[in-house]
Amino acid sequence: RYGCKMKKLEDYVRSIPDFPEPGIIFRDVTTVLQDKDGLKLAIDSIQDLLKDVDFDVIVGPESRGFIFGVPIAYNMNKAFIPVRKKGKLPCETIEMDYDLEYGKATIEIHKDAIKPGQKVVIIDDLIATGGTIEAITKLIKSLGGEVVKIVFLMELKGLKGRDKLAGFDVEAVIQYE
Ligand code: PRP
Ligand code: ADE
Repeated sequence: RYGCKMKKLEDYVRSIPDFPEPGIIFRDVTTVLQDKDGLKLAIDSIQDLLKDVDFDVIVGPESRGFIFGVPIAYNMNKAFIPVRKKGKLPCETIEMDYDLEYGKATIEIHKDAIKPGQKVVIIDDLIATGGTIEAITKLIKSLGGEVVKIVFLMELKGLKGRDKLAGFDVEAVIQYE
């Protein structure tokens, strides 16, 4: 039957054991992106989670958050605000240190990127420990923004990243145990 030929999003994700370190199963989104049907399905699926959400701007972290954040902002006629690894943004910034599944990092956002009272949606490809997005919620709060929704393509449930985002409306398209 026709329905049997339809690929699901999960079918496009490639899983690589022991990358970048022993014990990590890396969920590789490049195989979603390099297939035109996979790319469309991924963007449409994330965007669908936002169809009833009232918001002003989308924030996405470097680098995989850019891949999904920008097309969805464009499609929904919203602005996109990049959060970058330390040292990349040229104007005045605020920064936050955080831990992730395989290391530590510092991220920054431009101080003038969010106006007090703006309703913010955060988009990223994947939540692991939740460290990245927790840090971003703190940056947004300190600029006076209100995080109204956080959406991911993939959630690694075993790492309990959602626990770090208690109180926020969090959704993911695909879950891994
Ligand atoms: C990955 C991923 C998320 C984050 C998730 O990005 O795209 O942003 O890690 O991990 P966490 O939930 O434990 O914080 P990474 O920092 O590897 O950067 P990249 O997108 O540039 O590859
Ligand atoms: N970012 C953090 N952990 C990851 C994983 N297991 N796969 C892909 N991206 C990640």
